[in-house]
Amino acid sequence: MKFLVIGGGGREHAIAWKLAQSPLAEKVYCAPGNGGTSIEAKCENINISDTSELIKFALENNIDITVVGPEAPLVDGVVDDFKAQGLKIFGPAKAAARLEGSKSYSKEFCKKYNVKTAAYEEFEDSDKAVEYLKGCGYPVVVKADGLAAGKGVAICKAFEEAEEAVLSFMVKDIFKGAGKKIIIEEFLEGVEASILAITDGNVILPFLSAKDHKTIYDNNEGPNTGGMGAISPNPYCTEEVLNSFKEHIMLPTLKGIQGEKMDYVGIVFFGLMITKKGVYLLEYNVRMGDPETEAVLPLMESDFAELIIEAVNKRLEAYKLQWKNKHCCSVVAASAGYPGSYKTGFTIKGFENLDSKVFAAGAKTQNGELATAGGRVLAVSAIGDTLEQARENAYRDIKHIEFEGIYYRSDIGKVK
Ligand code: AMP
Ligand code: GLY
Repeated sequence: MKFLVIGGGGREHAIAWKLAQSPLAEKVYCAPGNGGTSIEAKCENINISDTSELIKFALENNIDITVVGPEAPLVDGVVDDFKAQGLKIFGPAKAAARLEGSKSYSKEFCKKYNVKTAAYEEFEDSDKAVEYLKGCGYPVVVKADGLAAGKGVAICKAFEEAEEAVLSFMVKDIFKGAGKKIIIEEFLEGVEASILAITDGNVILPFLSAKDHKTIYDNNEGPNTGGMGAISPNPYCTEEVLNSFKEHIMLPTLKGIQGEKMDYVGIVFFGLMITKKGVYLLEYNVRMGDPETEAVLPLMESDFAELIIEAVNKRLEAYKLQWKNKHCCSVVAASAGYPGSYKTGFTIKGFENLDSKVFAAGAKTQNGELATAGGRVLAVSAIGDTLEQARENAYRDIKHIEFEGIYYRSDIGKVK
């Protein structure tokens, strides 16, 4: 079968790599892909981003299934457009993608279907929002309703900070429309977890849990990034936590998907907070996580291509997902300066012949060599029998990788 993967980050390299490992996959096209997918077996990059051009490519090249990596095309309706042309595609339709595209929509959905989430209020008027802030407890969380490239959440310790967030989201309009409506939410204290699950609309099967590491520096210090590393499984996801997640979050979500008659064949990403009062949903994403995917897929024993085929054909009911009984630690190497400004175009060396799998992200081929092309350059994913071993393996291997200004955290997967 022929697959087309939309996207070009580390997540998409991992998706393409895992698909290509299947005997069912004859070819995996990546649009646009990156320097990693360009050298991966069975994979080929195509430089197309426009949806109608992608549809034309899929029709002309007899693509069997398209897999969408990032949220933006899903929120824009790429699934609806492909389906309208009779093409099979893995991802939720536009209406369902609002679970990620609008926080106000997802909070309403949670309320309607009893999905355990933080208490909240919604505002479209900044004066009313500021008035509300005067009477609420702190810290409090202010969230822009729409997509804000991961920057639309402010955790505010005191009124002044919260007021400033409200004004910059709603009045200064720093997110160009995405903060016209806001959510003010109860602050939850605990440890975060990410759980991806696959659904065909009839059943939902959770993947192994994962843990992202969002800040740029060790010990969760410094500004947030797209993710500096991930581990799987998440050591805080005990059986009790997982059972509570299934009962109070995952299954009610499936009920909601069905109750709203959503066309949802794809991944539901549950961003969770494990607190003393139980597990809460922080957010839905309607696609796989980055860098969670780079830590979870290496542990999948099942044939990923087969899994996607079964999902698209709505046959997940009989599917038994299999996992390696191991741990994965994925450490991201970034360009100096990231998440602020950084330089690109530096040659990357030492990524071949490692035991770890190296997934390229902001990396491109340049004069026949791999070179940096983004903030997060690559992820080194290592497997081990224990988390500690996976960690050691990842850090042993990442030391061999060289490019000018390479930076990575030294505490990915370190559990206190
Ligand atoms: P979101 O985009 O909603 O996942 O928020 C981004 C990040 O903000 C999360 O990963 C958490 O670290 C933090 N966050 C969001 N909502 C809350 C909350 N209610 N309490 C504490 N932290 C939160
Ligand atoms: N790692 C968080 C995300 O993919 O949104």
